[in-house]
Amino acid sequence: MNSEFVYINEVGPRDGLQNQKTILDSEARLELINYLIDAKLPGIEVASFVNPKAVPAMEGAREIIKGLVHTKGCEISVLVPNMKGFEMAHEAGAEIITVVPSATETMNQKNINMGLEETIESSCNIIKSAKSSNLKTRAYVSVAWECPYEGKVEGSTVLNIANQLLSAGADEIILADTIGAANPASVGSLFKKCVEEFDHNILSGHFHDTRAMALANVCAALAEGIRKFDSCIGGLGGCPFAPGAAGNLATEDLANMLNQMGYETDVDLQKLSEIVGYCSDQLKAPLGGRMSAWLSKEK
Ligand code: HMG
Ligand code: MG
Repeated sequence: MNSEFVYINEVGPRDGLQNQKTILDSEARLELINYLIDAKLPGIEVASFVNPKAVPAMEGAREIIKGLVHTKGCEISVLVPNMKGFEMAHEAGAEIITVVPSATETMNQKNINMGLEETIESSCNIIKSAKSSNLKTRAYVSVAWECPYEGKVEGSTVLNIANQLLSAGADEIILADTIGAANPASVGSLFKKCVEEFDHNILSGHFHDTRAMALANVCAALAEGIRKFDSCIGGLGGCPFAPGAAGNLATEDLANMLNQMGYETDVDLQKLSEIVGYCSDQLKAPLGGRMSAWLSKEK
């Protein structure tokens, strides 16, 4: 048995809800976040400071940060697309800032209306500003395996971007499979290259489950020493600006697999299962993960 700790960063309130037909207001999102805190998730990405005209479902990020009172040791992070988003997040009191550069020119244009070079420069400036205010920083590299507009992405491109973000002071790099196009072989190979250059403790994986390979991709990353993963309650999720970006890996499926493999996660599976039911009621739709149906039968 393996008793190592694996850190699950829940991104449901942000990635999970940003593209749903039913929009939850900040009060409903706060209620969900508090349930997730009670389920003992070690980290939660709670909101994004983006233009509500571009992503109406994320309106009210400030209210969410201001409304979070008892975080019980859970690490609360927010996504920011540009310096204005960072300034708004900082003013609201956010303590962990996540920037979101993509590995290709077109994906950055479609997502945040900047080219690749400008995005990297802007992300590095945000990281430096956050550091000078003693904030923690995370940096995605989106479309790390494949871009919906430009196709396959070279590992060397991803490493180059990661190096620039780390040089600016990023505390963590999250390789994101935005459209669920990676497979265990390509995940293993990219993380192997990363681990040769960077400390495995600062690396994380964010897998969308479009082609049902997200859990297998986690196993491939675990084999390279990765011990941090993003996931979404109920397998919610998807980027509105990346065609084909279906739901993320479901948190309950990830936590269950890790527990059965002997890893520690701290997460309360039964509570997660109840939250899946809650989200499904709130969103008036069935959700994606597999474990909660099995867990409710077991009760
Ligand atoms: P822009 O139009 O280039 O911005 O949008 P601008 O600087 O030209 O300003 C235009 C207007 O937007 C102005 O307002 C600004 O004040 C406002 P107006 O004068 O018209 O009233 N503005 C903002 N408002 C709120 N927050 C801001 C902000 N910045 C400017 N931060 C912008 C650029 C980035 C804002 C826009 O493109 C945007 O909001 N994009 C949303 C991107 C997004 O949320 N994508 C999904 C998240 S990323 C993801 O899902 C991938 C991930 O899960 C990993 C993976 O799977 O790969 C993380
Ligand atoms: Mg995503």
